[in-house]
Amino acid sequence: MNFFKLFHNCPPNKQISMKEIQNKIEIDKRIIIIVQKKVYDITVFVDSNLHPGKNDCLIKKNGTDCTEDLKKFHSSKANDLLKFFYIGDLIDNKS
Ligand code: HEM
Repeated sequence: MNFFKLFHNCPPNKQISMKEIQNKIEIDKRIIIIVQKKVYDITVFVDSNLHPGKNDCLIKKNGTDCTEDLKKFHSSKANDLLKFFYIGDLIDNKS
C-alpha cells in the first residue's frame, strides 16, 4: 500500500480515459463513477454496505457520470466522503 493509495484525496494528477475506466470495471471488477470530471473508485464503499441510498443505485451507475445524482440526493457529507475514493481526472476528449 503506497502513500497515495492511503490518501486518495491527494493522488498525483492522473488522467484517466473512458477506456481505462471500462478496463477497471470489466477486468479488475471495480466500481467507478465520475463526478464533475473527476473519477472515483467506490468499490470499497460499496463493499462496506454503508451507503444510505443502498448499493443497488451505485452498482447501476457503474462507469457513468453521477454529477446530477450527487447534487440531487446528497449533502456536503457525501462529497467529503467521495474525496477518499478519488483516483484521477477524466480525459476530456471534447476540449
Ligand atoms: C451513484 C449515484 C448515487 C445515487 C443514485 C445515490 C443515491 C442516494 C440516495 C437515494 C440517498 C438517500 C437520501 C435520503 O435518505 O433522503 C443517498 C444518501 C447518501 N449517499 Fe448516495 N447516491 C449515490 C452516490 C453516492 C456516493 C458516491 C457517495 C459517497 C461516496 C454517497 C454517499 C451518501 C451519503 C453520505 C448519504 C446520506 C445523505 C448525506 O449525508 O448526503 N452516495 N444516496
